Amino acid sequence: MSNRYNEAYEQSINDPDGFWGKIAQDCHWYKKWDKVLDDSNKPFYRWFKGGEVNTCYNAVDFHVDNGMGEQDAIIYDSPVTDTIKKYTYSQLKEKVAKFAGILVSKGVGKGDRVIIYMPMIPQAVFAMLACARIGAVHSVVFGGFAANELATRIDDAKPKVIVSASCGIEVKKVIEYKPLLDKAIELSDSKPDACIIFQRPQAKASMIKGRDFDWEEAMVTALPHDCVPVKATDPLYILYTSGTTGQPKGVVRDNGGHMVALKWSMGAIYGVEKGDVYWAASDIGWVVGHSYIVYGPLLKGCTTIIFEGKPVGTPDASVFWRIISQHKVKTLFTAPTAFRAIKREDPSAQLMSNFDLSCFKYLFLAGERLDPDTLSWAKNALRVPVIDHWWQTETGWAIAANCVGLHQFDVKPGSPTKSVPGWNMAVLGDDGTPVAEGEIGAIVAKLPLPPGTLPTLWQNDQRYIDSYLKVFPGYYETADAGFIDEDGYIFVMARTDDIINVAGHRLSTGGMEEVIAEHPDVAECAVMGVADQLKGQIPLGMMVLNAGVEKDHDTVVKEVIALVRNKIGPVAAFKTAVVVKRLPKTRSGKILRGTMRAIADKKDYKVPATIDDYSTLDEIEESLGEIGYGSKG
Ligand code: COA
Ligand code: AMP
Repeated sequence: MSNRYNEAYEQSINDPDGFWGKIAQDCHWYKKWDKVLDDSNKPFYRWFKGGEVNTCYNAVDFHVDNGMGEQDAIIYDSPVTDTIKKYTYSQLKEKVAKFAGILVSKGVGKGDRVIIYMPMIPQAVFAMLACARIGAVHSVVFGGFAANELATRIDDAKPKVIVSASCGIEVKKVIEYKPLLDKAIELSDSKPDACIIFQRPQAKASMIKGRDFDWEEAMVTALPHDCVPVKATDPLYILYTSGTTGQPKGVVRDNGGHMVALKWSMGAIYGVEKGDVYWAASDIGWVVGHSYIVYGPLLKGCTTIIFEGKPVGTPDASVFWRIISQHKVKTLFTAPTAFRAIKREDPSAQLMSNFDLSCFKYLFLAGERLDPDTLSWAKNALRVPVIDHWWQTETGWAIAANCVGLHQFDVKPGSPTKSVPGWNMAVLGDDGTPVAEGEIGAIVAKLPLPPGTLPTLWQNDQRYIDSYLKVFPGYYETADAGFIDEDGYIFVMARTDDIINVAGHRLSTGGMEEVIAEHPDVAECAVMGVADQLKGQIPLGMMVLNAGVEKDHDTVVKEVIALVRNKIGPVAAFKTAVVVKRLPKTRSGKILRGTMRAIADKKDYKVPATIDDYSTLDEIEESLGEIGYGSKG
């Protein structure tokens, strides 16, 4: 392994001030920091305290001021609308500055929140950057969430303005966003002063006079607004992510540390330089979209691709190859599920041979465990390094990866490789002490976390401590279980909480259980993530009905499925549920979800000695068999 990775790693751990302080000089600062790492208020660590910056300046204006105004900043490639549109850095600056002017005219100022509920269109990125430009805090909500989820986020973030679009397009379906937005505002206690709506030709949103404003009309008269210096420690955005309950966690990202870490990661991890074309095939509603569709590539001066489509069906399984070849993509980042979808449609990768992929250098995958089949299929078909890397919404960038920019490239299948510089990882047992090499335990990061990670949860320091820092004092608990081998390779095996990963989307089974429990006929329920060939995992619900319910079970199942779709959204992919007589429990009343999941996945399992009644497991096996799961399925 190259010394560049080793040297960087050693320095990042032994001298974080020196390491990050030097890297930070690569960014533009209105005022230099007083301290690189401020640890005066443990466990709340702050990076670059005293510094003043503007993330939008660094991501946009900086490049224009440095002679790159004519370079493409964004390529919007939308097979679902048959559109390809490019924006240079100068054009991006003009759009963002004007939209910032609109936000200011609606009363948005430094620290105010703006919710962005939009599909994958360039206007979503303009809105994010416009917030950063004026020091407002954006919170992007993924389009596949239902009104109820949006309302929860509105109530927590209390936005002054909401930016949305008339619709999103899911392959051929037009999904109207505005009725969902109206419903969410109706459901929420906190009401925005204004909504700015981008009307798309596929659907026209009806507007509420006095509250809703048309994006294009407002742009005609908008006055461009300049970048406003903010503190390095001021929040740039809030991104809500699934926790163990239905109440999502508002992950906060600051300006200074985020900007420094992301710009560095583009070169060090992903191996790209300014001017390269970088594509993260994800959605701006997820952390991958924030970090690697928007901020990372733009901070680095790359061209980023906004892809409004799916890996298959828009129009077929060759769309990734078409985009790589047409736009000269050097590095692609997506989730393994996208490759499983392509492989299913085109198992011998025949469609690939129609395209010149000589520009393509690296494939990075994350979001879920990279199964060996997908790894070897991608490697054989593409003949470029295929790199698994591991991270979370909370961390904002990779904890473990091959840092190809630091000349590190060593793959052990099943492992996202070693800790990235900045990350001091360990595996602890239940007693909080390190387990032996190769032994499974809780994967934790020694505090302080590097810059660009979460300093806290939005207005909830206590939940931040309780969720991440309490169980293992002095460490951040990733809630992933796994092991580190004798060579320092990390293996991420499973979540230790109620989070499941469905097609790379992070969802809370606890949140789904809360919704199902609202159904009047349901006495109790359990939702588990069971194995799925395409999506990695899908949720499966098991319900016990109230005594005396005479309704047909199929009807209750249909109603429950509709309830989850309406309350959480289609992204939950909750399509399978079954009525059971009882749920297996321990004598102390804990539902044995793990055992049921093992039965569904046809895996060996140990019957817990503390089970209250062994016969419930036979009943569960019968019920799962009826819907095609388990050995009886
Ligand atoms: N707005 C509205 N609805 C949305 C949506 C959005 N932005 N995104 C997804 N949905 C809907 C889908 O239309 C689908 O609805 P349906 O039940 O009516 O069919 C449902 O939510 C589930 O969507 P998805 O999980 O995307 O499944 P899919 O079957 O449409 O596609 C894949 C499967 C694997 C092709 C797709 O998930 C994919 O491309 N994944 C890439 C991974 C990724 O982007 N991960 C992010 C982290 S890197
Ligand atoms: P999210 O916050 O949506 O990015 O989801 C984070 C979770 O996805 C992690 O805690 C892991 O459980 C899982 N995950 C992400 N990347 C990987 C990976 N490369 N290998 C295994 N699991 C992963």
